[in-house]
Amino acid sequence: MTVVARTIAQLRAAVAELPGAVGLVPTMGALHDGHGQLVSLAAGENTSVVVSIFVNPLQFTDLGDCDDYRHYPRDLDKDVAFLESLDVDVVFAPAVEEMYPDGLPQVWVRAGEMGERLEGASRPGHFDGVTTVVAKLFHLVRPDRAYFGEKDAQQLAIIQRMVADLDFDLQIRPVPIIRGADGLAESSRNQHLTRQAREQALVLPRTLSALRERAAAGQPLDVEGARATLSAAAGVELDHLEVVDAATLLPVDEVGAGALAVAAIHVGGTRLIDNVRLLPPSA
Ligand code: PAF
Repeated sequence: MTVVARTIAQLRAAVAELPGAVGLVPTMGALHDGHGQLVSLAAGENTSVVVSIFVNPLQFTDLGDCDDYRHYPRDLDKDVAFLESLDVDVVFAPAVEEMYPDGLPQVWVRAGEMGERLEGASRPGHFDGVTTVVAKLFHLVRPDRAYFGEKDAQQLAIIQRMVADLDFDLQIRPVPIIRGADGLAESSRNQHLTRQAREQALVLPRTLSALRERAAAGQPLDVEGARATLSAAAGVELDHLEVVDAATLLPVDEVGAGALAVAAIHVGGTRLIDNVRLLPPSA
């Protein structure tokens, strides 16, 4: 049976009853197959699974005083039914006042320079909001493992670094990107796309996969050409396309084990991100 905890006290009581290793899947709800994949992995590696559902205002523009936060898709009943069908043990779905009872926290976990590049350049403070809420969730649930999608490559790298820098006693488990049949990476934001916008958005996975194929064929990457393709695409506004090291997020010139092409675009008023690994021909 799935326990739904709305308060920290209820969460602590529910977690205290859980047997064996605990896997945590932090989410902001609007769950899709990508989240299902995180939960399946967590269920395979742990005795118990906790999923948090919390649309965290700290990681939005103006600390949530923005349309993106107000219009972020929320449907708790549907999400809980989905998680019940996956046999999740505990769902933690707190109100904002439960997580931040005194309004904004005084003490934050700062993502540092890693949080200022790429996504962070367009969304100042975003990753400070993410690290602060994830640190709270780690303290509240005390999981043995926590699961994060590779689609949010920068978030994953920053959280791995936070765990190392602040000595959190848990394992971070990255989970590969889930794509729709058309190639678009699964995201809660895809719900905002009209059919036409979704069609236009496909230039993102196609451009990234062309880069991956060039890398695998040993051809020069032509990142500028890829940027030009995205900039010229109908209905699309390019935010960034960079090749970086997956762990440090610093730019790299060569393809190799850690090289990642990361990109963000706006389409139909929705911001989408995606990435692919760039491996050389021998890999
Ligand atoms: O990736 C997300 O959904 C959020 O950034 C997270 C990790 C749940 C923190 O609010």
